[in-house]
Amino acid sequence: MNSSYDFLVVGAGIAGLRAVCELGRHGSVLCLAKQALTESNTQYAQGGIAVALAADDSPALHLADTIAAGAGLVNDAAARILCDEGPRRVRELMDWGVQFDRDERGELAFTREGAHCRSRVLHADGDSTGREMARALYAYAARMPNVTFAAHGFCRNLLVQDGRVVGVELLLEDGSVQKITARAVLLATGGMGMVFANTTNPDTATGDGPALAARAGAELEDMEFVQFHPTALYLKNAPRFLISEAVRGEGAYLLNAKGERFMPDAHPMAELAPRDVVARAIHRQVMASGTTDAAVYLDVRHLDAAHLRARFPRIAETCRKYGIELGRDLIPIRPAAHYAMGGIRTDLDGRTTLPGLYAAGEAACTGLHGANRLASNSLLEGLVYGARAAQAMAADNAPVALTDAANPTRKSTDAAIATVVCEGVTGKHNGLEAVTALRQQAREVMESRVGMERSSSGLSEAIRRLEEIHRQLPAMDTHAAAEARNIVECGLAIARSALARQESRGSHWRSDYPATDDAHFRRHSLLKADKIRLA
Ligand code: SIN
Repeated sequence: MNSSYDFLVVGAGIAGLRAVCELGRHGSVLCLAKQALTESNTQYAQGGIAVALAADDSPALHLADTIAAGAGLVNDAAARILCDEGPRRVRELMDWGVQFDRDERGELAFTREGAHCRSRVLHADGDSTGREMARALYAYAARMPNVTFAAHGFCRNLLVQDGRVVGVELLLEDGSVQKITARAVLLATGGMGMVFANTTNPDTATGDGPALAARAGAELEDMEFVQFHPTALYLKNAPRFLISEAVRGEGAYLLNAKGERFMPDAHPMAELAPRDVVARAIHRQVMASGTTDAAVYLDVRHLDAAHLRARFPRIAETCRKYGIELGRDLIPIRPAAHYAMGGIRTDLDGRTTLPGLYAAGEAACTGLHGANRLASNSLLEGLVYGARAAQAMAADNAPVALTDAANPTRKSTDAAIATVVCEGVTGKHNGLEAVTALRQQAREVMESRVGMERSSSGLSEAIRRLEEIHRQLPAMDTHAAAEARNIVECGLAIARSALARQESRGSHWRSDYPATDDAHFRRHSLLKADKIRLA
């Protein structure tokens, strides 16, 4: 690894990889993955990629559904770009080797998902769409001579010089720190599901991008809007494994503890209502049941079991591991944190509010999802906006010469402090235990106070607790400590933004302000340091 590249891409999910495929034609590129290159949210994306390619579909219909799902807050220009440029980007991907599933006539097979007026979701290997797309993008990028991939490259801070981002500070596995400069830096770090105790996201989704950007002085946008996926597997001692919305697209029902369907009473689209509506209806059933059991079940017993196993091999295999046979058994589910609509504020070309810094994919916020993302729009966002951000970066010609003034956004402590005594958490113990305990406390606070149902008192209490946890985090140069800090800082940004939005809209539900208030809040929330404004 050199100490200087033309372009730095932090993250190797779909947005990062798509950007690398573009940037490799314009200069030298370093793409960093904080774990193995194959570990990102993209790898777990099941349902698929929404794109207007079917004969009965059009970008205009896709746009209308995206805007309707977003509960009055979609940035129309950003959503229009997504829907208009999507078909070209997906065709390009097929040219690069992505194999989407096809029907018996060899035509692309489109699935229906919630709040879509057409069957427009492409999938690959049944329920492994993200993995197939990442495979092809990586294979394409890895053939480019200008491109270097680095696994286990954890970006601890951004380097800022004269108000411009000029590189990153890497924390290596041995605790040492390396500075790398670039003309332009892209944050494509993915999601922040790990900020909550219950999430469908993998361990990597610790909100690194928004935390890094905010520490460097960039603005965050709409952080209060966190989507809870309605159907995560809910079993004691099992991870909150995602049961794709496409299962409901195939005709699955939701049943309450009495074995009754409740969605037909909640919304005209029943089980295929927008995601925030379904998640909230399930939440109400859970609250009404007063049980610690799932209380809500996905029922696929009336569907063809062989078809389900072929269509959803990964889901079938995971369910079987926990004694649930698709087609025979009810699947216990509850909502779990899944996707951040908010993130680092960008324009339509991935530019953040800091020169030299770009963002794309889930880490970014163009406003295209508004207050609630339409199912399967996120892989498409990564493709379309990863490419756009890369084009803007290629045109960004600012020369970079690192001087002593280039400061990481936090003073580095001595490398590799092996143990730190942290009092006031669980007594005296080594730093890793303290970090683990504090991180878990923060995630529980977020789940109970900043989750699906929010109130002024709960949010204020969460902010107080998170600030306390932030103060207690040991200053250690380890990935675990840096990730814990990112989790707490993202949690604080979400809680502060949620407190300021005194209304309910899309995924943001306030029990003390249950109505939507267009007159005051049909605006985006912008957060810089801990100051919020609406615009
Ligand atoms: C799913 O398969 O239900 C998840 C897809 C998405 O979040 O868009």
